[in-house]
Formats: sequence, C-alpha cells, structure tokens
Amino acid sequence: MEKIPTFETERLILREVRYEDIPSYEKYFIDYEVISHLSAAVPWPYPQNGVRQFLDEMIYPHQGVDQWLWGIFEKKNPQELIGTVHLWRQGRPEHRGFWLGKPFWGKGYMTEAVGPVMDYAFNELGFEKLVFANARGNQKSRRVKEKTGARLIGVKPTKFVSPEYTESEVWELTKSEWLARQSS
Ligand SMILES: CC(C)(COP(=O)(O)OP(=O)(O)OC[C@H]1O[C@@H](n2cnc3c(N)ncnc32)[C@H](O)[C@@H]1OP(=O)(O)O)[C@@H](O)C(=O)NCCC(=O)NCCS
Repeated sequence: MEKIPTFETERLILREVRYEDIPSYEKYFIDYEVISHLSAAVPWPYPQNGVRQFLDEMIYPHQGVDQWLWGIFEKKNPQELIGTVHLWRQGRPEHRGFWLGKPFWGKGYMTEAVGPVMDYAFNELGFEKLVFANARGNQKSRRVKEKTGARLIGVKPTKFVSPEYTESEVWELTKSEWLARQSS
C-alpha cells in the first residue's frame, strides 16, 4: 500500500517516488543549475547512486510518518519524474524543499504542485504553520512563496551548494492564512 496519497492538479500528478523513477530523477536532478540552489547538505559533485541512497536512507524509513516525498509528473508524460516536493515534520526551521528539472521551469508548475501538498499538511497532517526557506537571491523559489501567500519573517546566514549564496530568506504561512486564501 502507498504510504502517501497521490494528488492530481490541472497539469500534474504528484505521487510517491519509486525505484523505477530513479533514471528520470537522476536525469533532471543531477544538474548544477538545480543543485546549486539547495542546502550545502546536498553533496556536489553528486555521488553515483546518490538518489537510491537518499531514498533508502532518508526517505523510505520515514515516508508517511514524519516525512513525505512526492515525485512530480506531467499528466501528458506520466512516466517521467520531473521534480519533487518534500515535506518534513521537524522544522530545520523550514518544513519543505522542492526542485524541478530545468526544462520545466517558468511554467508555474511548482506553484501548482505545492497547492495540494499544503492542503494535505494543514488539513490532514495537523500542521498549524509551515516554514519555508530559500537562498536569498533565488528569485524563482522566492516567487513560489510569494504567490502562495507566505510572509517573509527573516534572513539568516546559511550555506548552500553555490558559494555565491550566503543567506536564506525564511517564510511562514499559517493554516488560517492558507484557508482564508483558498476561500477568497
Ligand atoms: C524554484 C523552482 C522550483 C521554481 O519552479 P517553477 O515551476 O519554475 O516556478 P513557477 O513557474 O511556479 O514560478 C516561478 C516564478 O518565478 C518567476 N521568475 C523566474 N525567473 C525569475 C527571475 N530571474 N527573477 C524574478 N522572478 C523570476 C517566474 O516569472 C514565476 O513568477 P510569475 O508566475 O509571477 O511569473 C525551480 O526554478 C527550481 O527547481 N530551481 C532549482 C532548485 C531550487 O531552487 N529549489 C528551491 C530551493 S529553496
């Protein structure tokens, strides 16, 4: 049985990541233009079998318990994983991470993908507040927060894969803010 629900949006399917998705995961994720924007906790150069190891060690033991990782797939090509949205219970301080393969940027896909994940977090998982973060200067990721109603609450020193980023912007969105936004 699947440990996390599958979501459908207008153009996308979000579902659990399976071993069969590893080739497309590697194809789009192992790209400095994607990974450079992520936390320095992500290794670069990216190791061989890194995705498999990430799934086995960091995701599957926690999937549906205190972490939730969805693969993102286009409805028009549902065989190929093009990105992920990751949610976790314990704030770091943020609760979410995401990436999308470069050919799929700028189509509004991530803004579309995070909608059902936030609905699920607030309505089913009991989150009262979600904290998000992005490298200061990562305008695309910042826009996803702005477009989904998050409030900027601070800036703090943080290490990213790209040494050009030295600070993160931290954002907050409460359940009541999200629900009010959905009903307006
Ligand atoms: C961040 C990321 C997921 C955004 O995905 P996406 O599907 O392209 O995002 P969307 O299309 O939903 O929104 C992107 C917004 O950024 C805007 N944008 C793009 N380039 C921009 C720039 N240079 N300056 C300002 N805004 C920019 C787009 O116009 C769009 O806003 P709009 O709808 O108001 O026009 C994707 O760029 C990515 O995977 N980047 C690499 C990994 C990463 O940064 N992950 C996040 C770590 S916090």
